[in-house]
Amino acid sequence: MRTQVAIVGAGPAGLTLAHLLHLQGIESVVLETRSRSYVENRVRAGVLEQPTVDLLREVGLGERLDREGMRHLGTTLRFRDRSHRVDFVGLTGSTITVYGQQEVVKDLIAARLDAGLPVEFDVAETAIDGIDGDRPRVRYRKDGAEHVVEADVVAGCDGSHGVSAATVPTHALTRFERTYPYAWLGILARTRPSSEELVYASHDAGFALHSMRSPTLTRQYLQVAPDTDVAEWPDDRIWAELRLRLHDEDGFALDEGEIVEKGVTQMRSLVVEPMQHGRLFLLGDAAHIVPPTGAKGMNLAVADACVLSNALGAFYAGAGTARLDAYTETCLRRVWRAEHFSWFMTSMLHPPPDGDPFERRLQLSQLDYVTSSAPAATSLAENYVGLPFARHWAWEG
Ligand code: FAD
Ligand code: DHB
Repeated sequence: MRTQVAIVGAGPAGLTLAHLLHLQGIESVVLETRSRSYVENRVRAGVLEQPTVDLLREVGLGERLDREGMRHLGTTLRFRDRSHRVDFVGLTGSTITVYGQQEVVKDLIAARLDAGLPVEFDVAETAIDGIDGDRPRVRYRKDGAEHVVEADVVAGCDGSHGVSAATVPTHALTRFERTYPYAWLGILARTRPSSEELVYASHDAGFALHSMRSPTLTRQYLQVAPDTDVAEWPDDRIWAELRLRLHDEDGFALDEGEIVEKGVTQMRSLVVEPMQHGRLFLLGDAAHIVPPTGAKGMNLAVADACVLSNALGAFYAGAGTARLDAYTETCLRRVWRAEHFSWFMTSMLHPPPDGDPFERRLQLSQLDYVTSSAPAATSLAENYVGLPFARHWAWEG
């Protein structure tokens, strides 16, 4: 099989890239190890930045998002049992939209299938070779048969456990990494949101996040130890801990009910540089991981896809490789800003598991500052709603 762009992975990065290439008349093949139903039901991120929403609308994916997405004009930071609102619109003019990652993925898959283009689900043993030459290949097995896709370019969109980054010789990549001494226990519950906007709570007993997916479904997280087994967290313990950590003196009343999903997510920061080697480009979690506190991961994946699709648009329109050559530099500027913001939010909101009182005082001081100083709140809000990224569509010339 021959195509222009071979895309490994059908998460937000791979599917957005395929869609943006198609709009510019560029062919691609999308390969995914999991089934369609698995990727459409995997519960993960939920916050779309303003630039992500703008892009999805601009490329014809805004219809269900506008109908079902929950637009939030601000968020709450809660500490010492008091709530402090950060007014995104007042401070920046922008908002965020709560819309599940799996809904974005469903919309992208539907758009691809509507265009009569396939996604190869359930592939196995994906292997990339030839990235140093001009005919890179991706091999895979499906239904017992071996297949080879030959392409001009391979897009590694296979997340943090994929094969793409591992295909690059180790001496050609530098990894910048940080781990954190805590993880998140996430739940999905059939309860009503107890607040109109997200609540980020930094309690001495640990961090908690109150989020939602719809008027009848909440998504909530608790800071836990990295080696936590979900079996240690029966529903009663989860509700008791959420009640404690989300408490405020203004009468926040947590609605409790059936928990339909539970899972533990590790927290780490990682950037690999460069994000390109020969004809292989790395996008999204394959190139960088952020701890989830800043809600940046999915948004970065979409932004990378936009930058690469624009560079490929220019390349196939005969404008040369300048944009492709600048891919790493263009993406990394935004990636490192998001890395910093995610590290900042994470470090400010999670009390140190060793109970270090000095560090805790610094956190509370920082929380006090970002909720009482307009310039500090504006900086937080500007990063949270998302910094803009340029778009250069091939159809605009
Ligand atoms: P992925 O979504 O991981 O997609 C990669 C795909 O590649 C997968 O479908 C995988 O099955 C497939 N694959 C893997 N290996 C291979 C292979 N060898 N061959 C073919 N296919 C392969 N981000 C936000 O922006 N906002 C949030 O609020 C937020 N909250 C989060 C909360 C949690 C609990 C978690 C876990 C993450 C959160 N994130 C958030 C991060 C976000 O989910 C990720 O950053 C995002 O999924 C990255 O998209 P991606 O397409 O790069 O990778
Ligand atoms: C959600 C996840 C996040 O990491 C975050 O910072 C905010 C919301 C969510 O899943 O809704």
